[in-house]
Amino acid sequence: MSALGHWRLNLVLLLLSSLLVPADIIIPKPAGQYKTYLNTMELVDTSRKDPYATDGSNRAIMVSIFYPIDPQGCPKTSLVDYMPPKTAAFEDTDFGLPNGTFESMKLQTCTPDHRNAIHDPRYYPLVIFSPGLGSPRFLGNAIAQSIASTGYAVVSIDHPYDTNIVEFPDGRVIFGASIRNDSSNPEKAVATRVADARFVLDQLSDASVVRQLLPGARCAFNTEKAAAFGHSIGGATAVAALQFERRLLGAIDMDGALYSINSTTQRPVLLLGRGDHNRSTDTTWQDAWGRFEGWREELDIANSGHFTYSDAPLLLELGGLSLPPDLEPNVGKIEGHRALEIVTTYVEAFLGFVLRREEKKILEGPSDKYPEVRFYE
Ligand SMILES: *[C@@H]1O[C@H](CO)[C@@H](O)[C@H](O)[C@H]1NC(C)=O
Ligand SMILES: *[C@@H]1O[C@H](CO)[C@@H](O)[C@H](O)[C@H]1NC(C)=O
Ligand SMILES: *[C@@H]1O[C@H](CO)[C@@H](O)[C@H](O)[C@H]1NC(C)=O
Ligand SMILES: *[C@@H]1O[C@H](CO)[C@@H](O)[C@H](O)[C@H]1NC(C)=O
Repeated sequence: MSALGHWRLNLVLLLLSSLLVPADIIIPKPAGQYKTYLNTMELVDTSRKDPYATDGSNRAIMVSIFYPIDPQGCPKTSLVDYMPPKTAAFEDTDFGLPNGTFESMKLQTCTPDHRNAIHDPRYYPLVIFSPGLGSPRFLGNAIAQSIASTGYAVVSIDHPYDTNIVEFPDGRVIFGASIRNDSSNPEKAVATRVADARFVLDQLSDASVVRQLLPGARCAFNTEKAAAFGHSIGGATAVAALQFERRLLGAIDMDGALYSINSTTQRPVLLLGRGDHNRSTDTTWQDAWGRFEGWREELDIANSGHFTYSDAPLLLELGGLSLPPDLEPNVGKIEGHRALEIVTTYVEAFLGFVLRREEKKILEGPSDKYPEVRFYE
């Protein structure tokens, strides 16, 4: 065959393969000034039995870290899987999406080219993220990465038996089915999650753990300066944890009913609601409000749904996907990029105020730039 013939054949093969292989769904690079390193790790709490395991095993959790890297320490960005393969297949079915959808989703992260690119971990304030009941931590990846790109180390947690599937590095999985039966006991789920979050803080104050999570790190995090945010029952976890954990300096609850808020806190609390979720519709918010004795604010986003506070709107928009009709209302009516921008802008403002002593800025009151956001205080 002539050289031209070869070229034509290659072109045809290329076109065919691009038709057969589903295109990657690529999460845009985050907007902040830093690139982000991503790593995941299993952490085993040898001092605590898993309250849901039937075999008496110790509590084992999975975490992801999104860590800021100076752009000059990261000349090249790589595409990495949004979630591991078994989880991706499971979530396709759970969300009623075509096989291969979650597997095709990619994040753009940085593999530092030299060890010095990993800064002294004490430099970046620490932020813990806890996802909603049944949701994997990955559904907050774009939000976590976006926040990390503004200079925070963001660590997200999967809470086994509660997260619908947790996949460990050795390939074993824990399904969340049994806790759904336990959903009549959300206080137990919150208490377990609070213990998970506190255990993560303990681990991040251990230099040998931090070295595995951040190759090249020469010390541990300053866990005395941390904040927590979460979605749904993860938000309840963040706020409940303030009562027990002095290392957490503030908490954000994104659209979660609150549980076990039995004592007062002087530390800042931000409640973010979906369009029809506020203190007059949620007695748990009403009951807890008086116990927030420090700075407190309640906001909602007009036309948002419960999953506006997750990556779901962005993923659906990027993939040109839609959910089955019964799930559709949960994602709200706000376009994906816009949802991500609003949520991360308000979360970052809170973190800046709590962890960097910055001005409250956008948290002071309604903004022309974000007319969707309504203030209740
Ligand atoms: C999706 O993949 C799973 C496992 O890989 C398979 O069992 C199932 O039949 C597939 N479903 C569809 C609709 O292709
Ligand atoms: C959940 O409860 C139902 C009904 O009580 C039971 O049939 C099912 O086996 C339980 N599932 C798990 C995973 O425990
Ligand atoms: C908080 O109060 C609730 C309801 O009164 C109770 O069930 C729960 O055990 C309490 N939690 C803590 C941690 O004290
Ligand atoms: C709270 O939400 C409900 C339901 O959408 C709405 O009717 C009500 O006006 C809201 N409360 C306030 C104080 O705006």
